[in-house]
Amino acid sequence: MGCFNFKKGPKSKPNKSVASKKSSNKPFQSKTYTEKSNNSSNSVKPDQSITKSVTSTPPRYSIPNLYEQRGQKLRVFDFEELRAATNDFNRALKLGEGGFGTVFKGFLKCRDSNGERLVVAVKRLKQKSLQGHKQWLAEVLFLGVVEHTNLVKLVGYCSVDGEKGNQRLLVYEFMPNKTLEDHLFSRAYPPLSWDLRLQIILGSAEGLVYLHEGLEVQIIFRDFKASNILLDKEFKPKLSDFGLAREGPTASKTHVSTAVVGTHGYAAPDYIQTGHLTIKSDVWSFGVVLYELLTGRRSLEQNRPRAEQKLLNWVKQYPPEATNFSVIMDPRLRNQYPLKAAREIARLADRCLVKDPKQRPGMTEVVRVLKEAMQIKVKG
Ligand SMILES: Nc1ncnc2c1ncn2[C@@H]1O[C@H](COP(=O)(O)OP(=O)(O)OP(=O)(O)O)[C@@H](O)[C@H]1O
Ligand SMILES: [Mg+2]
Repeated sequence: MGCFNFKKGPKSKPNKSVASKKSSNKPFQSKTYTEKSNNSSNSVKPDQSITKSVTSTPPRYSIPNLYEQRGQKLRVFDFEELRAATNDFNRALKLGEGGFGTVFKGFLKCRDSNGERLVVAVKRLKQKSLQGHKQWLAEVLFLGVVEHTNLVKLVGYCSVDGEKGNQRLLVYEFMPNKTLEDHLFSRAYPPLSWDLRLQIILGSAEGLVYLHEGLEVQIIFRDFKASNILLDKEFKPKLSDFGLAREGPTASKTHVSTAVVGTHGYAAPDYIQTGHLTIKSDVWSFGVVLYELLTGRRSLEQNRPRAEQKLLNWVKQYPPEATNFSVIMDPRLRNQYPLKAAREIARLADRCLVKDPKQRPGMTEVVRVLKEAMQIKVKG
């Protein structure tokens, strides 16, 4: 993968820099990338390399040492088993493709509690680089530790370094209803109702609260966006893609200094400028998704008139208290939403999108406001 990992819209190539004209919703990584990569020349089990690649001096609680306690629940697959499960990575079973790899539907021989073959999603990393390995490793470590109803479940992983090349795969529980991105922006799906939009965004916010506050260590997701919100059979949201996640700062620090990675159109400007990462970087991205949810528009859309290409600039002309606020609302909602609630959500988005990260609300506060907005039912 190129050395800039900012992510952009669905299926285009990674961008080289945030400042470049063509935006990309694919992963980016700043040219000033400085994080140390670990050596992946041998077959690597996550528990052997975690301390090297995630942090060099683990604090008392760290993802690596939590992984040692909790990561055992993950299954280690051999490559042949995953090849068989996906019918040799058959294109007919392809679920999608992201910046880091291709995802296939797979059927494992083992049966679930109902005696059915276990359906999974198998992500095969296309990067044979150290960077690819690093992202794979982060995903194994973080998902090996976390457990929450709004986070995707990792079933296991596969790592083989052989003469024919290195293979890194991840096996997740299968999510039958695609992603929030698909339902918001693709005409192939019926429009999402107002209530469902709020239900999805509330669950996603609860996933972030758990990451930010629910564990012994703080986790910064760093890649919150509509395509990383998977939907289960009841449209319950599950955050996915922990390849860019980072441990938050320890008590004595205010931020982690890191190379800038994330997705164009979603990453916080203060983080892009300084490389200082905090949980408030996720709050900014959350604000962007709130506006996507209200408007049915992507944060960056190059095929619109210039003044409308950047969603955050465009919505500024229609603030929540303005009489013409409803101009921004997704026409696919067909006016079937409570205007008062929509204004509340826009106000909340604006709070998430303030310049100074310290002034942004925490995710617990965001959840509180969302729940309040969900109580407003009168349409108009
Ligand atoms: N657990 C899963 N169950 C079902 N489908 C999945 C699962 N994980 C991923 N997918 C599908 O695979 C697609 C590609 O996912 P992936 O995370 O690799 O890329 P992305 O999120 O679209 O882009 P990016 O790499 O920028 O994050 C998703 O859009 C989704 O449709
Ligand atoms: Mg993704």
